[in-house]
Amino acid sequence: MSVPLTDQATTILRTNDRGGYTVPTAGLYPYQWNWDSAFAALGFAAFDRHRAWRELETIFDGQWADGMAPHIIFRKFDPSYFPGPNIWGSRTDPPSSGHSQPPVVATIARWLVETGNADDEKRARALFPKLIAWHHWFHRARDPDQTGLVSIIHPWESGRDNCPDWDLGMNRMTVPNDLGDYHRRDTDWVDADERPTHETYDRYLTILKFGRECGWDHTEVYRNGPFLMADPCVQFVLMRADRDLLALAERFGETEAVPMLQGWIDQSRRGADLMWSDTVGGYVAREMRTGELSTAITNASVLAFYAGAGTSEQRATLIEQARQIADQCRYVFPSWDPRADGFESRRYWRGPVWSVMNWMIARGFSECGYDDLAHRVQRDTLAMVVQSGFFEYFDPLSGEGLGGPDFTWTAAIHLALQAEHGAQAAA
Ligand code: GLC
Repeated sequence: MSVPLTDQATTILRTNDRGGYTVPTAGLYPYQWNWDSAFAALGFAAFDRHRAWRELETIFDGQWADGMAPHIIFRKFDPSYFPGPNIWGSRTDPPSSGHSQPPVVATIARWLVETGNADDEKRARALFPKLIAWHHWFHRARDPDQTGLVSIIHPWESGRDNCPDWDLGMNRMTVPNDLGDYHRRDTDWVDADERPTHETYDRYLTILKFGRECGWDHTEVYRNGPFLMADPCVQFVLMRADRDLLALAERFGETEAVPMLQGWIDQSRRGADLMWSDTVGGYVAREMRTGELSTAITNASVLAFYAGAGTSEQRATLIEQARQIADQCRYVFPSWDPRADGFESRRYWRGPVWSVMNWMIARGFSECGYDDLAHRVQRDTLAMVVQSGFFEYFDPLSGEGLGGPDFTWTAAIHLALQAEHGAQAAA
């Protein structure tokens, strides 16, 4: 008899547990990643709420003095991953990477509080100041001119590493001759045609070199670094997380934080307009130094609903695009519009579907009253796993599982969807 998928998912979380934090998948990603842990907590909550909170709390073991929660914490050196702590050179304890990742934690913390009891509330209260410090850092360091639009300084900060969105910023960059030789480890584990190209990797490392050489001075990296773009994923995840933090602040009687959070939310709503493209009919990434906009809808564009961004006209335009894209795919939601140039159904963030994005997208659709689309996204997310297993990402045209196997966040989202919507999503 085959093992039920929820049991398989539970086993994956337990197997990837390194004691208080999980690795995304053994081998390919042997450290703690920020937003992976946030989603892992959602999965743990289905069977062990204490462990769910540990996963969120350990993210802040790596928090910098200025509030930034880094995207990777290198707890125990593991040579199977490149670039490791020495290449980042951030000189923190524990060693960490030099930039952040989409801040999902406050959203998951609020969800745990609202579905839990007094213990959940106690754990959330303890995290509250750390969350405020992190969000504050985003609004300060990534938007020093207070435009309402936060930037990213590396494609990895978006969590959507090689999306065509970043081509605008990456193509402007000059790769220095003294980058040196390096041996990528990711292609030891996964087929090269499912991973970023070598040219892309050179550019990733160019940004790391700049950051390392200026001691990861955020102002210097923002003003003069090799890459500066605005990302609908970070913008909308932060805006949503600010709203969730506001709800927690009100619940906890943290009255001083309330006007500050309200200000951030209003500012982000205005800033989002700088990413609106009439040509595309949606929010897209923006190259910050030239103002150029990207050329297609992604799975980050449709997070506008999850954030609560946009006028009713903008929402109507975007939802129409989302429906057209859904018609093109066997499984939604693709990371790049299949109708646009540059779509590659198997290559990482240039086409494939990712469960964690789908979890956020479905919430947004449902909250804005697009229940048919929300159900489609939930159903597809479960169905891809039924067809192919717990892979890192999936081909939207065939449902084939791609990238790393036994993946923590795919297992976690499966558990969360089963717990929240199993019966209705399977219907
Ligand atoms: C890749 C993904 C990123 C994720 C990391 C670990 O870099 O693009 O979003 O956090 O892997 O799973």
